[in-house]
Amino acid sequence: MCGIVGYVGPKQAQDVVVEGLRRLEYRGYDSAGVALVIPGGTSGVIAEAKKAGKLANLEKVIADSTLPPSHTGIGHTRWATHGAPTDANAHPHLGSERRVALVHNGIIENFAELRTRLEDDDHVLLSETDTEVAAHLLELAVAAGADLTTAMQQVCRRLEGAFTLVAVDAHDPDRVVAARRNSPLVVGVGEGEHFLGSDVAAFIEHTREALELGQDQVVTITRDAVAITDFDGRPGEGRAYHVDWDLSAAEKDGHDWFMRKEIFEQPRAVADSLLGRRSTSGLLQLDEMRLSDDEIRDIDKIIIIAAGTSFYAGMVAKYAIEHWTRIPVEVELSSEFRYRDPILDHSTLVVAISQSGETADTLQAIRHARSQRSKVLAICNTNGSTIPRESDAVIYTHAGPEIGVASTKGFLTQLVACYLLALYVAQVKGTRFGDEIEEVMSQLEAMPDHIATVLAGAEQVYDLARAHTGTRSVLFLGRHAGYPVALEGALKLKEIAYLHAEGFAAGELKHGPIALVEQGLPVLCVVPPRGRDQLHEKMISGIQEVRARGAQTICLAEEGDTRIEPYADVLIRLPKVPVLLQPLVAVVPLQLFACELATALGHDVDQPRNLAKSVTVE
Ligand code: F6R
Repeated sequence: MCGIVGYVGPKQAQDVVVEGLRRLEYRGYDSAGVALVIPGGTSGVIAEAKKAGKLANLEKVIADSTLPPSHTGIGHTRWATHGAPTDANAHPHLGSERRVALVHNGIIENFAELRTRLEDDDHVLLSETDTEVAAHLLELAVAAGADLTTAMQQVCRRLEGAFTLVAVDAHDPDRVVAARRNSPLVVGVGEGEHFLGSDVAAFIEHTREALELGQDQVVTITRDAVAITDFDGRPGEGRAYHVDWDLSAAEKDGHDWFMRKEIFEQPRAVADSLLGRRSTSGLLQLDEMRLSDDEIRDIDKIIIIAAGTSFYAGMVAKYAIEHWTRIPVEVELSSEFRYRDPILDHSTLVVAISQSGETADTLQAIRHARSQRSKVLAICNTNGSTIPRESDAVIYTHAGPEIGVASTKGFLTQLVACYLLALYVAQVKGTRFGDEIEEVMSQLEAMPDHIATVLAGAEQVYDLARAHTGTRSVLFLGRHAGYPVALEGALKLKEIAYLHAEGFAAGELKHGPIALVEQGLPVLCVVPPRGRDQLHEKMISGIQEVRARGAQTICLAEEGDTRIEPYADVLIRLPKVPVLLQPLVAVVPLQLFACELATALGHDVDQPRNLAKSVTVE
């Protein structure tokens, strides 16, 4: 997500901060800004500059109107969540008196109610962001006499959600204070200077000694000291380490590829995509939904359109939406949609899923749907991109920028958004009881930990991948919600390992594709959870069919599933989760498999041949 830099020391803060932001550019962003403390006791002021677009735009603003010298500063590159990528929404944000400046990474879940309270007290907020609320609260606390550290602790106790906050106070030029909950923050420890960064890339030009903050900690940096507390002011400690990565590895958090980094970010990405979706009364709320309850009650058919990985997310969504809402769902490749003259009217909801928000096929498809008077809802990761702008409603996935060309965290967060949509429609239409929706939400909220468990077993999958460098063809089998997972596993392998790979619905095998099976052919099987016994048993039959013909069966099955053991040459365990949510864990070993196999084959995993991240031609 966003990039954050903080500095206090003898150097010119502007240079250090802007350079740090440049090092964080790889994270992706849509606006940038800096704030510097110009000392002067109680007449000290904040000088700031911010601009939508690339860092060069900000540098031009600074070149046109030079900021005064300063030794204390903060900076930010923003990836829009609340509010479009505009100058006004760019960080830093200031309090009403312009005494405190603050930058933020993450999502403050209870910002709407805090904002209302501030506005009731005559605060004028200049942006649409959740961040500005925290800047005002922090300024109120320092104006009431708290030092910036205490003020930060007080404010953090009032915030819900995930956040890294970094702030400066114009009346206190020697310190920068930051806080962290569920969002990354690292301190760079120098000689007579200290740094803050969302990752070490922000400061490794200056120091390689780092201190990682724990959950719910506040850190105060001055030239000579680093002091850590919890949100209640009790002293705490960070984890000190030496950074021996080069810059390129630092950008990838020590991983060899952005794709691998993004696979490992998935627990966080899924958690972020669930943030702020429930109101204080426990009801589901979708911020940018913009469809009225009456419009939702009117829906009698849903058509999901998407391409590639996003299309497979749509296939999973069909199972969830139909099951929870009883509304019929069609899933269609966006490149095919308008050419078949689809039957659309005002009671058809068209759901366009797109990570980039710029895919030309999907864009043309939504234009066609709207011309036929259908409502269009976009599920998108990129705030301000064309598809959400041209849609009637949007659910942002909040995965943060995805840099690897092959989509991974984009897919998982699209699944989350689809589940949320299904549950929201069920809530409005009353097709599920409140406690049932509540139960699924709790199951979803447990998924980040389950995904982390799968990731902890990565080595087993890597060994398996490295044992298959001589393989020329791989099959993937699944049933029900596991079928799109099989398709996605095959797509990942095609994209980055350039191997022939096919995904099939296991029951379809005997109708033709089984002819492909020969001695030693690896077949990855996504085994549905038990409980739906028919499904599980039917899957076992499919596995038996390929095994009997010499295939090597690699089975992904839930913990405790002993029935599968005689049929699996290799068994990869998945956490026990409900069948509809299983794609969130089942796809992860397939991503790891493709990533490791492509690496072992010597391919460029992040930039696979012939592919582009965003396909803007039809
Ligand atoms: C696969 C992949 C592509 C995209 C497809 C749609 O790893 O990245 O298949 O999923 O091009 O892109 P978006 O979601 O941006 O519309």
